[in-house]
Amino acid sequence: MTEQSLIQFVLRVSLMAIPLYICNGMALVLGGGKPIDRGKKFLDGKRWLGDGKTLRGTFCGIAAATLGAFAVTLAFPGARIFLGADYIAYGFLLAAGAVAGDFAGSFLKRRLGIERGKRVFLLDQLDFIGGGLVFGLALLAPAAIEALFLFAFTLMAHVIGNQIAYRTKIKKVPW
Ligand code: CTP
Ligand code: MG
Repeated sequence: MTEQSLIQFVLRVSLMAIPLYICNGMALVLGGGKPIDRGKKFLDGKRWLGDGKTLRGTFCGIAAATLGAFAVTLAFPGARIFLGADYIAYGFLLAAGAVAGDFAGSFLKRRLGIERGKRVFLLDQLDFIGGGLVFGLALLAPAAIEALFLFAFTLMAHVIGNQIAYRTKIKKVPW
Protein backbone atom coordinates (compact mmCIF):
# COMPACT_ATOMS: atom_id res chain seq x y z
CA MET A 1 0.00 0.00 0.00
CA THR A 2 1.48 3.34 -1.02
CA GLU A 3 1.34 6.32 1.31
CA GLN A 4 -1.24 7.97 -0.91
CA SER A 5 -3.56 4.98 -0.99
CA LEU A 6 -3.23 4.65 2.78
CA ILE A 7 -4.33 8.28 3.20
CA GLN A 8 -7.24 7.62 0.83
CA PHE A 9 -8.23 4.53 2.79
CA VAL A 10 -8.19 6.38 6.11
CA LEU A 11 -10.14 9.30 4.65
CA ARG A 12 -12.82 7.15 3.07
CA VAL A 13 -13.25 5.01 6.17
CA SER A 14 -13.44 8.14 8.34
CA LEU A 15 -16.09 9.67 6.09
CA MET A 16 -18.10 6.47 6.48
CA ALA A 17 -17.56 6.26 10.23
CA ILE A 18 -18.56 9.84 11.07
CA PRO A 19 -22.33 9.65 10.26
CA LEU A 20 -22.54 6.08 11.60
CA TYR A 21 -21.03 6.98 14.96
CA ILE A 22 -22.88 10.30 15.25
CA CYS A 23 -26.19 8.56 14.59
CA ASN A 24 -25.62 5.80 17.09
CA GLY A 25 -24.17 8.13 19.72
CA MET A 26 -26.77 10.86 19.44
CA ALA A 27 -29.65 8.38 19.55
CA LEU A 28 -28.23 7.25 22.89
CA VAL A 29 -27.56 10.75 24.24
CA LEU A 30 -30.76 12.43 23.00
CA GLY A 31 -33.08 9.41 22.94
CA GLY A 32 -35.94 8.69 25.28
CA GLY A 33 -39.67 9.10 25.40
CA LYS A 34 -42.18 7.24 23.26
CA PRO A 35 -41.01 3.87 21.94
CA ILE A 36 -41.23 3.58 18.18
CA ASP A 37 -43.19 0.31 18.40
CA ARG A 38 -45.74 2.15 20.61
CA GLY A 39 -45.61 -0.71 23.08
CA LYS A 40 -47.07 -3.15 20.56
CA LYS A 41 -46.35 -6.86 20.76
CA PHE A 42 -45.31 -9.20 17.96
CA LEU A 43 -46.93 -12.59 17.25
CA ASP A 44 -44.80 -14.22 19.94
CA GLY A 45 -46.29 -11.92 22.59
CA LYS A 46 -43.02 -10.03 23.02
CA ARG A 47 -42.42 -6.44 22.03
CA TRP A 48 -41.60 -5.63 18.41
CA LEU A 49 -38.51 -3.63 19.41
CA GLY A 50 -38.87 -2.55 23.04
CA ASP A 51 -38.46 0.68 24.98
CA GLY A 52 -34.85 1.18 23.84
CA LYS A 53 -35.88 2.35 20.36
CA THR A 54 -37.60 5.70 20.62
CA LEU A 55 -39.01 8.18 18.15
CA ARG A 56 -36.84 10.96 19.54
CA GLY A 57 -33.62 8.92 19.51
CA THR A 58 -34.27 7.79 15.96
CA PHE A 59 -35.05 11.27 14.68
CA CYS A 60 -32.18 12.94 16.57
CA GLY A 61 -29.70 10.30 15.45
CA ILE A 62 -30.54 10.68 11.77
CA ALA A 63 -30.77 14.48 11.97
CA ALA A 64 -27.47 14.83 13.86
CA ALA A 65 -25.63 12.52 11.46
CA THR A 66 -26.95 14.37 8.41
CA LEU A 67 -25.98 17.70 10.00
CA GLY A 68 -22.57 16.24 10.77
CA ALA A 69 -22.14 15.27 7.12
CA PHE A 70 -23.22 18.78 6.14
CA ALA A 71 -20.60 20.27 8.49
CA VAL A 72 -17.91 18.01 7.02
CA THR A 73 -18.93 19.14 3.52
CA LEU A 74 -18.53 22.77 4.57
CA ALA A 75 -15.09 22.13 6.03
CA PHE A 76 -14.02 19.75 3.29
CA PRO A 77 -15.86 20.68 0.05
CA GLY A 78 -13.80 18.12 -1.85
CA ALA A 79 -15.61 15.28 -0.05
CA ARG A 80 -18.10 14.92 -2.87
CA ILE A 81 -15.46 14.56 -5.56
CA PHE A 82 -13.28 12.40 -3.34
CA LEU A 83 -16.13 9.97 -2.64
CA GLY A 84 -17.79 10.26 -6.04
CA ALA A 85 -21.11 10.74 -4.22
CA ASP A 86 -22.93 13.58 -2.46
CA TYR A 87 -21.69 13.32 1.12
CA ILE A 88 -24.77 14.84 2.74
CA ALA A 89 -27.01 12.35 0.95
CA TYR A 90 -24.56 9.56 1.76
CA GLY A 91 -24.46 10.62 5.41
CA PHE A 92 -28.25 10.53 5.55
CA LEU A 93 -28.30 7.05 4.00
CA LEU A 94 -25.66 5.78 6.42
CA ALA A 95 -27.71 7.11 9.34
CA ALA A 96 -31.05 5.78 8.09
CA GLY A 97 -29.40 2.41 7.53
CA ALA A 98 -27.72 2.52 10.95
CA VAL A 99 -31.14 2.94 12.53
CA ALA A 100 -32.60 0.17 10.37
CA GLY A 101 -29.75 -2.17 11.34
CA ASP A 102 -30.19 -1.24 14.99
CA PHE A 103 -33.94 -1.96 14.75
CA ALA A 104 -33.22 -5.29 13.07
CA GLY A 105 -30.82 -6.14 15.91
CA SER A 106 -33.43 -5.28 18.54
CA PHE A 107 -36.12 -7.18 16.65
CA LEU A 108 -33.88 -10.25 16.62
CA LYS A 109 -33.02 -9.88 20.32
CA ARG A 110 -36.71 -9.69 21.27
CA ARG A 111 -37.49 -12.78 19.15
CA LEU A 112 -34.74 -14.64 20.99
CA GLY A 113 -36.27 -13.55 24.29
CA ILE A 114 -33.38 -11.20 25.15
CA GLU A 115 -34.58 -8.23 27.19
CA ARG A 116 -34.11 -4.62 26.20
CA GLY A 117 -30.65 -3.43 27.16
CA LYS A 118 -29.21 -6.95 27.66
CA ARG A 119 -25.93 -7.11 25.80
CA VAL A 120 -25.27 -9.32 22.80
CA PHE A 121 -21.61 -9.02 21.85
CA LEU A 122 -21.05 -8.46 18.11
CA LEU A 123 -24.73 -7.89 17.29
CA ASP A 124 -25.01 -4.74 19.46
CA GLN A 125 -21.85 -3.20 18.04
CA LEU A 126 -22.15 -4.23 14.44
CA ASP A 127 -25.86 -4.03 13.55
CA PHE A 128 -25.76 -0.29 12.93
CA ILE A 129 -22.53 -0.43 10.90
CA GLY A 130 -23.90 -3.20 8.68
CA GLY A 131 -27.26 -1.50 8.21
CA GLY A 132 -25.64 1.82 7.37
CA LEU A 133 -23.24 0.39 4.82
CA VAL A 134 -26.05 -1.58 3.16
CA PHE A 135 -28.29 1.51 2.78
CA GLY A 136 -25.25 3.47 1.66
CA LEU A 137 -24.81 1.05 -1.25
CA ALA A 138 -27.41 3.13 -3.09
CA LEU A 139 -24.66 5.74 -3.53
CA LEU A 140 -21.35 4.11 -2.74
CA ALA A 141 -20.00 0.59 -2.41
CA PRO A 142 -17.30 0.24 0.24
CA ALA A 143 -14.41 -2.07 -0.52
CA ALA A 144 -14.54 -5.30 1.51
CA ILE A 145 -11.42 -4.22 3.40
CA GLU A 146 -13.07 -0.89 4.29
CA ALA A 147 -16.17 -2.61 5.65
CA LEU A 148 -14.05 -5.11 7.57
CA PHE A 149 -11.92 -2.34 9.00
CA LEU A 150 -15.03 -0.47 10.18
CA PHE A 151 -16.38 -3.59 11.89
CA ALA A 152 -13.05 -4.40 13.53
CA PHE A 153 -12.34 -0.82 14.58
CA THR A 154 -15.81 -0.42 16.09
CA LEU A 155 -15.44 -3.62 18.12
CA MET A 156 -11.99 -2.59 19.31
CA ALA A 157 -13.15 0.93 20.22
CA HIS A 158 -16.07 -0.58 22.12
CA VAL A 159 -13.88 -2.95 24.14
CA ILE A 160 -11.19 -0.33 24.85
CA GLY A 161 -13.78 2.35 25.64
CA ASN A 162 -15.46 0.07 28.16
CA GLN A 163 -12.11 -0.83 29.75
CA ILE A 164 -11.30 2.86 30.20
CA ALA A 165 -14.77 3.56 31.62
CA TYR A 166 -14.34 0.63 34.03
CA ARG A 167 -10.85 1.60 35.19
CA THR A 168 -11.83 5.23 35.69
CA LYS A 169 -14.87 3.98 37.62
CA ILE A 170 -17.38 5.50 35.18
CA LYS A 171 -18.74 1.97 34.73
CA LYS A 172 -19.05 -0.77 37.33
CA VAL A 173 -18.39 -3.62 34.89
CA PRO A 174 -15.73 -3.84 32.13
CA TRP A 175 -18.22 -4.68 29.35
N1 CTP B 1 -32.02 5.01 21.74
C1 CTP B 1 -33.19 5.62 21.33
N2 CTP B 1 -33.64 5.44 20.04
C2 CTP B 1 -32.95 4.68 19.16
C3 CTP B 1 -31.75 4.06 19.57
C4 CTP B 1 -31.31 4.23 20.88
O1 CTP B 1 -33.83 6.34 22.09
N3 CTP B 1 -33.41 4.54 17.90
C5 CTP B 1 -31.56 5.24 23.14
C6 CTP B 1 -32.42 4.44 24.15
O2 CTP B 1 -32.51 5.21 25.31
C7 CTP B 1 -31.57 3.19 24.37
C8 CTP B 1 -30.16 3.73 24.29
O3 CTP B 1 -30.23 4.78 23.32
O4 CTP B 1 -31.83 2.57 25.59
C9 CTP B 1 -29.12 2.70 23.91
O5 CTP B 1 -29.39 2.18 22.63
P1 CTP B 1 -29.26 0.63 22.33
O6 CTP B 1 -28.09 0.06 23.04
O7 CTP B 1 -29.34 0.49 20.86
O8 CTP B 1 -30.63 0.06 22.95
P2 CTP B 1 -30.91 -0.91 24.18
O9 CTP B 1 -31.56 -0.12 25.27
O10 CTP B 1 -29.71 -1.69 24.50
O11 CTP B 1 -32.05 -1.87 23.62
P3 CTP B 1 -31.93 -3.24 22.77
O12 CTP B 1 -31.79 -4.35 23.74
O13 CTP B 1 -33.21 -3.26 22.03
O14 CTP B 1 -30.75 -3.11 21.86
MG1 MG C 1 -27.73 -1.72 24.03
